[in-house]
Amino acid sequence: MIKILFVCLGNICRSPTAEGVFMALVEREGLADKISADSAGVGSWHVGNPPDRRSQVAALKRGIDLSGQRARQAKPQDFYDFDYVIAMDSENHRDLSGICPAGEKHRLHMFMEFAPHIGHGDVPDPYFDGDDGFDVVLDLIEAASAGLLADIRAKHL
Ligand code: 4NP
Repeated sequence: MIKILFVCLGNICRSPTAEGVFMALVEREGLADKISADSAGVGSWHVGNPPDRRSQVAALKRGIDLSGQRARQAKPQDFYDFDYVIAMDSENHRDLSGICPAGEKHRLHMFMEFAPHIGHGDVPDPYFDGDDGFDVVLDLIEAASAGLLADIRAKHL
């Protein structure tokens, strides 16, 4: 099993959306027996909470149900448990670098590196934005999910 962990700041907007979108793609491609995904937050404020209602609404418009997810905090052990630890933005990447055990940095990625043609370094934090921000997040996540799956196919399947 190839295991993916998506990480943002709160684990209630971007990373649950990435988990939902990516796993819907994996299931569509018939690869759910080979690839699994989870998500976590760098921060602990929202631990135990479901995804932000605005993220749930935006994802449901594209047929993706995030309601069963619950937030948790990222931890050093995640770098042993997951093949890819994927940061949504450069701040998340820096914070994850700080808890990454020695010798495991090769597992840490920026999500948008898997969609270089989009020309975005970060999946921007939509938490303090209007509803439009959540649709932008979904567009970026859909593009990067396709690129991530291509990377996994090329390297692992
Ligand atoms: P996320 O968005 O990192 O995409 O889950 C945020 C959620 C909550 C907060 C910030 C960002 N917050 O400050 O509580």
